[in-house]
Amino acid sequence: MNRRDFVRTTVGATLLVTVPRSARAQAPAVGTPKSRQPVVISSANGHKYTNGGKETCVQLAFRMMTEGADVLDALIAGVNILELDPADTSVGYGGLPNGDGVVQLDACCMHGPKRRAGGVASLEGVRTPSNVAQAVMQQTDHHLLVGPGAQGFARNLGFKIEDDLNSEESRKQWHEWKRRTDPDRYLDPEKRSAAGDRARDAMVAEGLIDPEHVYGTINCNGLNAKGEICGVTTTSGLAWKIPGRVGDSPILGAGLYVDGEIGAAGSTGRGEANLFGLSSYLIVENMRRGMHPKDAGMEALRRIKANTIEKRLLNSRGEPKFNVHFYALNAKGEHAGVALYAGQYAVCTADGPQTVDSEPLLQGKPGE
Ligand code: GLY
Repeated sequence: MNRRDFVRTTVGATLLVTVPRSARAQAPAVGTPKSRQPVVISSANGHKYTNGGKETCVQLAFRMMTEGADVLDALIAGVNILELDPADTSVGYGGLPNGDGVVQLDACCMHGPKRRAGGVASLEGVRTPSNVAQAVMQQTDHHLLVGPGAQGFARNLGFKIEDDLNSEESRKQWHEWKRRTDPDRYLDPEKRSAAGDRARDAMVAEGLIDPEHVYGTINCNGLNAKGEICGVTTTSGLAWKIPGRVGDSPILGAGLYVDGEIGAAGSTGRGEANLFGLSSYLIVENMRRGMHPKDAGMEALRRIKANTIEKRLLNSRGEPKFNVHFYALNAKGEHAGVALYAGQYAVCTADGPQTVDSEPLLQGKPGE
């Protein structure tokens, strides 16, 4: 045992002896990480797309992690598959663009053991914003770079900057949305926004765009055999958003939160609901207090439901007319997917990858 491990273990032992039970439940676990069963979890798209290769995000991340790669490096290699695959129109290259037809990407990542984090928002021209977020984490004293600053940072590091990240499909869908909403560019902003929402909902109802890709995102979290936990979230954000709109994905505590001693939580779905309550942070704090990842996530969903009181956001049952999904993993390797409405999440362990049902808070469908 080296001196650092000795000090950590000794401090842990002291806490167990002297701290009252009630306070102990609040204190972070301290001590040498125990051997764990490695696991990677993600939103369901993490076991759907392969970008023409053989492995999905969770498969690649799990394999790299168990072959000894740094957990965050493995997770980011996994989400790169979706960022580069135009078939997922919610992430990276080919993500549905903003209202002006420009793809603006958000991402963040957190490294549990290193207690470091980085993010980018409204980044244009780089297919893999998760890599730029990791560079912010590794090469700056900052946690978040946005817009042209983020792009300049990426350019200086040698990232390829492209004029247009639209794929044929995302450009086609944007034209369709534009045709429906903006025959006259001089509608007043309120009407234009309402028309935009209606057109987006109609395009989903007509099967033109995947409902999961309206706010679509990938969050991916992993735990290796040494008990090291990391997470990453990356997205093209809300389809047809107002240029400059940033959702929950790149915001630490909202779209992702990792505490290396406790666990990781991340989100997909309506970012505004999640930004309001910093739900990923709340979930990790709930796990710190001893809650199972499922209960911790359910509590955050109940908070979102309670905070959703505006009529325009409610369905005919008076419940949120959008979905929010959380993916939570604790330091023991227990995990859960929970959502306002039914959905699934992806898991990869030594037994292989699978897609499993998430626990819904509410019955029915969001829009009914
Ligand atoms: N959760 C992705 C977004 O709202 O941008």
